[in-house]
Amino acid sequence: MAVRYGIVGVGMMGREHLLNLAHLRPDGAVVTCVADPHVPSQSLAVSLARSFNWEPQVFDGHREMLESGLCDVIVVSTPNMTHFEILMDILGHPRPHHVLVEKPLCTTTRHCRMVIEAAKRRPEILVQVGLEYRYMPPVAKLIEIVKGGSLGQVKMVSIREHRFPFLVKVNNWNRFNANTGGTLVEKCCHFFDLMRLFAAANPVRVMASGSMDVNHKDEIYDGKVPDIIDDAFVIVEFDNGSRGMLDLCMFAEGSKNEQEISVVGDIGKGEAFVPESIVRLGTRAGGRDGVQTIKAEDKRIKYDGLHHGSSYLEHLHFLAAVRDQGIRTPAVALEDGLLSVAMGVAAQLSIEQGRFITIEEVL
Ligand SMILES: NC(=O)c1ccc[n+]([C@@H]2O[C@H](COP(=O)([O-])OP(=O)(O)OC[C@H]3O[C@@H](n4cnc5c(N)ncnc54)[C@H](O)[C@@H]3O)[C@@H](O)[C@H]2O)c1
Repeated sequence: MAVRYGIVGVGMMGREHLLNLAHLRPDGAVVTCVADPHVPSQSLAVSLARSFNWEPQVFDGHREMLESGLCDVIVVSTPNMTHFEILMDILGHPRPHHVLVEKPLCTTTRHCRMVIEAAKRRPEILVQVGLEYRYMPPVAKLIEIVKGGSLGQVKMVSIREHRFPFLVKVNNWNRFNANTGGTLVEKCCHFFDLMRLFAAANPVRVMASGSMDVNHKDEIYDGKVPDIIDDAFVIVEFDNGSRGMLDLCMFAEGSKNEQEISVVGDIGKGEAFVPESIVRLGTRAGGRDGVQTIKAEDKRIKYDGLHHGSSYLEHLHFLAAVRDQGIRTPAVALEDGLLSVAMGVAAQLSIEQGRFITIEEVL
């Protein structure tokens, strides 16, 4: 049986979702409609869809899509500041639509909580948050190793993202904190989500230092210079005594890897490297000579796309949850979305105020 998808927001990520869904045609995925007010995005999405013999209905906004009855599942891939209103409309609509919403769930914790409350009133609707870095093969392998216990009790999780600057987006929405939630929400919710998974714990307090040091300084939009930071160090303390550390630099094109993750327990240490797709594993007893290097891959991936196959696996999981409704729950829950935003919000606030911010304060 076909599962009909509508995509709200068909910019870079919306079209990436379309491509991933096209690779799930054998599993019954079909994109029947798209909604976006930006004509160039609409046209690009339609030509892409046509290349897969799909002829999606085009709407200017999500409300017409909701009324149309043309889809069972809605992918929300609009700018961050629009997620709240769109999610509330979907969750409040009499016709049920399952939702896969891009990260960050919303730009504020208050809005995330309101979405969670609205979702509780619609238990027949499945909602998954697009924190898909969990599925990148080296990351998934390291999660499996950590959960298997061979590193012992996890004490330190360190995540380094060294990459290129933020790309140019439609109407430059990503240049301002008011639209994105701030770099540590927009981008780094992925890493805060991973820290929680590795530490198997929830965050207690966050301390951060960061600023806009290199990028965007010579850009002006409607008379305003961007206010988004491009580098930061963030320390997170967890409720089981473990610690997380994020090292973000967005003017580091000269890096072999974009993400380097290290998880150290009282028995051993595991590392994951993206895009090298390598996992290293060693123990205190085995020392340097005992460190193993494992190539991570996932044979289920039929399309690598922009995120090393993780978006494909995200859709594979969500499609399975939609088909097995009531048996399977979405892999990334709304609470995960909320906590990843809360950690980012706390980090942004810590930079502003120069002090530790407790998660309780921002929740
Ligand atoms: N998971 C990831 O790793 C990842 C990567 C990139 C982007 N994203 C997320 O995807 C979302 C979109 O980012 P993008 O890079 O595609 O941006 P983009 O600017 O390329 O595309 C956004 C599109 O949404 C449209 N849009 C704006 N308001 C809308 C509305 N109210 N209804 C319908 N369409 C609307 C715009 O016209 C544009 O075409 C953001 O939330 C971003 O954080 C996630």
